[in-house]
Amino acid sequence: MDVIEAIEKRISIRKFTDAAVPLNIIDRILSAGIQAPNAFNSEPWEFILVKEGPVKDELISMRRKIPPQKTALETAAFVIVVCYNNEMGNEALSSAYACVENMLLAATSFGLGAVPLTFHGKKIRELLELPEGFEIASVIPFGYPAESPEKPLRKPVTEKLHIGKF
Ligand SMILES: Cc1cc2nc3c(=O)[nH]c(=O)nc-3n(C[C@H](O)[C@H](O)[C@H](O)COP(=O)(O)O)c2cc1C
Repeated sequence: MDVIEAIEKRISIRKFTDAAVPLNIIDRILSAGIQAPNAFNSEPWEFILVKEGPVKDELISMRRKIPPQKTALETAAFVIVVCYNNEMGNEALSSAYACVENMLLAATSFGLGAVPLTFHGKKIRELLELPEGFEIASVIPFGYPAESPEKPLRKPVTEKLHIGKF
């Protein structure tokens, strides 16, 4: 699948089959992530791979009142938490999100689905033993899609494009 096809096919998936994902695919998704452009090539990202176990159970529990997110976490073959070193603030977060998008596109190209979830606060920091100076960009459940939602529509580019000035 070429990159334009992956961009056009990618949608957020929040329910996965119970098929296992080979380790080499997880490795290639992470490897795609670290190719992302990043401020000063500072590579601010750090990844936490979460598979079955108490950390995953606690993530599920934290989203027990938001059914689509709970299902995404419950059914995920694996979860990747993308963290970043916050020394450079916004530039580090932007870099981490470039990395997230590369991972989402790589996952799409391997036939996987994913959804980037937002988690903030003390509880998740403690759960993941996140060191001081690091923040969470995204918590991403991955797996083979067990749903095929309609692709959410976007407004046409012409409604968003300004020529020369806003
Ligand atoms: C920064 C960011 C945060 C997001 N946080 C959540 C979230 O907490 N829960 C969720 O279900 N989806 C989350 N999403 C996914 C968006 O809801 C989704 O991308 C958007 O609705 C467009 O749908 P699409 O990804 O299928 O194109 C997030 C996406 C981004 C980029």
